[in-house]
Amino acid sequence: MLFDERPKDSKKDLFDRENELSEILKSIKESRPLILILGIRRIGKTSLLNVALKESKVNYILVDLRSLDRNYSRGELYNALAKGLSLNKRVLEFLKGLRGVKIIGNEVELRWKGRDSLSIPELLDRLNDNRTIIALDEAQKLRGPLSNEIKEAIAHAYDYDRNLTFLLTGSEVGLLYNFLGIEDPSSPLYGRYSVEVKLERFTKEKSIEFLEKGFDEIGISVSEEVLEEAYEKFDGIVGWLTFFGNEYYRERDFKRVLKIAVSLASDEIKNLEKISKRYITVLKCIAQGNDNWSKVKSCVEKIEGSSISSSILSNVINNLKEMGIIENYQFLDPIYKLAISGFE
Ligand SMILES: Nc1ncnc2c1ncn2[C@@H]1O[C@H](COP(=O)(O)OP(=O)(O)OP(=O)(O)O)[C@@H](O)[C@H]1O
Ligand SMILES: [Mg+2]
Repeated sequence: MLFDERPKDSKKDLFDRENELSEILKSIKESRPLILILGIRRIGKTSLLNVALKESKVNYILVDLRSLDRNYSRGELYNALAKGLSLNKRVLEFLKGLRGVKIIGNEVELRWKGRDSLSIPELLDRLNDNRTIIALDEAQKLRGPLSNEIKEAIAHAYDYDRNLTFLLTGSEVGLLYNFLGIEDPSSPLYGRYSVEVKLERFTKEKSIEFLEKGFDEIGISVSEEVLEEAYEKFDGIVGWLTFFGNEYYRERDFKRVLKIAVSLASDEIKNLEKISKRYITVLKCIAQGNDNWSKVKSCVEKIEGSSISSSILSNVINNLKEMGIIENYQFLDPIYKLAISGFE
C-alpha cells in the first residue's frame, strides 16, 4: 500500500526511486565500504534503506539511531546495536561465542562494562567473517561523546574489513558530514571515499502519479485540482504526500489536512526551542522573507529588542543549515515554514 505511513520495506510498495535503488545495489555488489543515503526529513531514506537491504540478499544489521540524544551513553548505544543485531537470525549465529555477547532465543544482549565486555572493533571484526551490511539509520546521531571511538572503528573496518559495507542515512546532512569528517584532517575517516545517494523531491508529474496510484489502491477518486494543490503545498516530499493521502481519505477536507500537518511540524520545531528560543526567532525572520544575512540580523534584533553578536547569529544560521531546515535563507520544507508562523 503506497499510503502506508510506516517506512516501506518491500520493493512493490516503493514508488519510483529505481535509479537510487540500483545505485545502492550496485555499490553493495562491488563491496564499497561506505554508502550514504542523504536527504531532508520525510524524503524516503529509511524506506529506500529497508528495500535496498532486502533486495541485496546480503546479511545485515539495521541500527535505528534516531532516539539517541546529544549525550547518549554507551549503554544506550549498545542497546540500539543489540536491537539491530536481533533483527537478523543468521547474524546472531555468527556472533556465538563472542565475548560480551549473550544470545537468548532471538535476542541478543551486549555487555559494555567490565573485563568481559564487547568492544565495537571486536564486533565489527566478527561480523566481517561473513559478508555483512552495517546499516545505520540517522547516523548523525552518533555525534557526541563516543563519536571518535565509533569513527575509529569505522575507519579500521573501512581499511581492513573487506566483507563489511556501511550503509548510512542522514536527514541532518551537514551534521552527518561533520560527524564523518571526510574532509577534516583530524578525523579518523579523513580522505575516505563514500558513495552518496541524494534523495530529491518528486516532480509535479511523479507526485500526482503517486497520489493517483495511492488513492486508486484505497478506492477513492480525487479531483485533479486537489492533487495539484497537494503537490504545491507539500512540494513533492513523499512523506508529506503519504500523510496527505491518509488524512485526506479520513477527512476529505484539504484545509483540515493541512492544519494537521502543520501541527505535526510545530511539534518537531518545538525541539529546536529547547536548544534556544533564538532558533525560532531566526526561522520566523526567514519565513517573513528576510533572505540575506543583514536582513535576518536586523529582523532578529528588532524582535529581541537588543543587538545580537555576528558570531552567535552565524552559529544559529549555520546549525539550521546543517540540520537540513534551511538553505540559502529558504525553508527546505514548506510545512515547517507554515508552522513557524504559529509560534509566539
Ligand atoms: N518511494 C516511496 N514510495 C512510497 N512511499 C514512500 C516512499 N518513500 C517514502 N515513503 C513514505 O513516506 C514516509 C516517509 O518515509 P521514510 O520514513 O522512509 O522517510 P525518511 O526520509 O526516512 O524520513 P525521516 O527523515 O523522518 O526519517 C513514510 O510514510 C513512507 O512510507
Ligand atoms: Mg527515516
